[in-house]
Amino acid sequence: MLRVENLSCNYKQIIALSDVSLHINRGEIVSLIGANGAGKTTLLRTISGLHNAKNGNIFFEGQDITKLESHDVAKLAITQIPEGRGLFSILSVEENLRLGAYLRADSDIEDDINKIYEKFPILKEKSHEYAGTLSGGQQQMVAVGRALMSRPKLLLLDEPSMGLAPIVVEEIFKAIKSLRDNGTTIFIVEQNAFLALSVTDRAYVLENGKIVMSGNSGELLKDEKVKEAYLGA
Ligand SMILES: Nc1ncnc2c1ncn2[C@@H]1O[C@H](COP(=O)(O)OP(=O)(O)OP(=O)(O)O)[C@@H](O)[C@H]1O
Ligand SMILES: [Mg+2]
Repeated sequence: MLRVENLSCNYKQIIALSDVSLHINRGEIVSLIGANGAGKTTLLRTISGLHNAKNGNIFFEGQDITKLESHDVAKLAITQIPEGRGLFSILSVEENLRLGAYLRADSDIEDDINKIYEKFPILKEKSHEYAGTLSGGQQQMVAVGRALMSRPKLLLLDEPSMGLAPIVVEEIFKAIKSLRDNGTTIFIVEQNAFLALSVTDRAYVLENGKIVMSGNSGELLKDEKVKEAYLGA
């Protein structure tokens, strides 16, 4: 579904990504793990059209999307949940959810809002509160819900666990897994390698802008080098 080929990205003289190649099959849940500054966010932003590639190509369903602007990438149903969630804090929870559907013209929007309230009942309770007044975990639920309102084919998540208590992280990841079970293809960027490897099918390890390892997530969890560098073992 997604194929990244020999992608390189810079910020002026800083090389953020260098010769990155990876792919995501339809229906898969894949993670990218790596330390602070490895280039994870840069990769997601480049896929979303928010940052320009220096070299290399990105293909989505066979179409070269490398040079598309972000709004055209969004029209292909590639939806990113940014680092820090990117909610509108002075809009209500429900208004934030509805914004996720801004490209849709179908009549199922109300049904989809209700489905999100079923998935995250706390959001129904708080539907008329300002999003900015919710806890971090609740805000991440709004961010996931808003992304779902776009009916994504490919969902890109940037560090969904950041700043959240373990029990809330568990809830968010349970929701993410249920999305995959409903057919959404998901790419998760995470610093929390244990979590990412526990819920995904395959994973890539990014170090200083380069993919240094890849494979089945279960196998990477047992890999000595991964354990040493990312699992604190
Ligand atoms: N706007 C920017 N201008 C200049 N350099 C940047 C910019 N954004 C990122 N960088 C640099 O690019 C490299 C990759 O950053 P990126 O944000 O992609 O890393 P990351 O893996 O997402 O890190 P984190 O886990 O901290 O979110 C870093 O060296 C960073 O300093
Ligand atoms: Mg980042």
